[in-house]
Amino acid sequence: MDHIRYSNRRFAEVLGISPRELSEPQYSLKDLAEMRQKLGRLPPRRPLRKQLFLNFKGGTGKTSVSTAYAFRLAEMGHRVLVIDLDSQGHASKCLGVSGEEAEKTLFDAIIKKTPIEHVIVKTGMPGLDLVPSNLTMSTIDLSLMPLAAREFRLRNVLKEVESAYDYAILDAPPSFGLLNLNALMAAHDLFVPVLADFLSFHGLKLLFETVQGLEEDLEHVLDHIFIVINAYNQTYKIAKEAKEALEKHYPEFLLKQVIRQCTKFAQASSEGIPIFAYDPESKGAHDIQAVLDEVRERIGAPVRLKAVESA
Ligand SMILES: Nc1ncnc2c1ncn2[C@@H]1O[C@H](COP(=O)(O)OP(=O)(O)O)[C@@H](O)[C@H]1O
Ligand SMILES: [Mg+2]
Repeated sequence: MDHIRYSNRRFAEVLGISPRELSEPQYSLKDLAEMRQKLGRLPPRRPLRKQLFLNFKGGTGKTSVSTAYAFRLAEMGHRVLVIDLDSQGHASKCLGVSGEEAEKTLFDAIIKKTPIEHVIVKTGMPGLDLVPSNLTMSTIDLSLMPLAAREFRLRNVLKEVESAYDYAILDAPPSFGLLNLNALMAAHDLFVPVLADFLSFHGLKLLFETVQGLEEDLEHVLDHIFIVINAYNQTYKIAKEAKEALEKHYPEFLLKQVIRQCTKFAQASSEGIPIFAYDPESKGAHDIQAVLDEVRERIGAPVRLKAVESA
């Protein structure tokens, strides 16, 4: 992400200042952190909020949405840790880090009890750190099996970084096993990206049964569940029908904001650049910002940063 540059106008917009206050034509991610510090435009620190992006179905946008969401939080000045739970390492890639080259993954922290600070790597975005993933993560369910307190390992590991970050964003693989159970046990909020098709329905039913099981058997109650429709194309009749069905069956969980179909996601991830940096004017970036606003309103955090508002 080192080569990312903000235009003068976008840089001002992100900081909530006037472009007239800026002298350079372009700015880097590092400049953003420095300028934010200098201007004192930092959001208030908050207790670590752990948010999990999970759906047992693959290809619904867990990785695209979670990494964009996390990048945007960091851009707004929050301290964010992304945890890549998928052995494919796509979240790592979307944030410009090669998972294959990572020396350590969450496997080391959870199974071998390596302190998590030795696993965390920096991304090119100040304030956005990553627990990378690669194929060594693929056997983690098996390794968790014989361990004591095997459902609580991730929750305990994250206690080590409770004061270092405002948000932990977890990007889950589309599987149904002990690692994802750990992720659910660690999370405050569950985000479920779905496609507006009827196949997504079966997955949702299973997911809700699992969450209900956690409440009954392990006494873990999630604070919020947000279902977010992704890659929405309103010109498709089937998409509109699926959306109506979701509105009918999951009214209390479904976010009003949908994320529209947007080809920029694929282009951005292939370059290892989050969509907000690749094209902040794109439909995808716009919709994820609106999702973020809706979620913060529901959770009770200020919708916009105070400093930005008063600018
Ligand atoms: N809103 C969207 N519009 C168009 N394509 C999308 C959108 N969100 C994700 N995609 C694409 O869909 C594919 C699967 O997305 P991904 O985030 O990897 O899903 P998951 O992590 O759930 O498997 C990727 O090729 C991605 O670029
Ligand atoms: Mg994924």
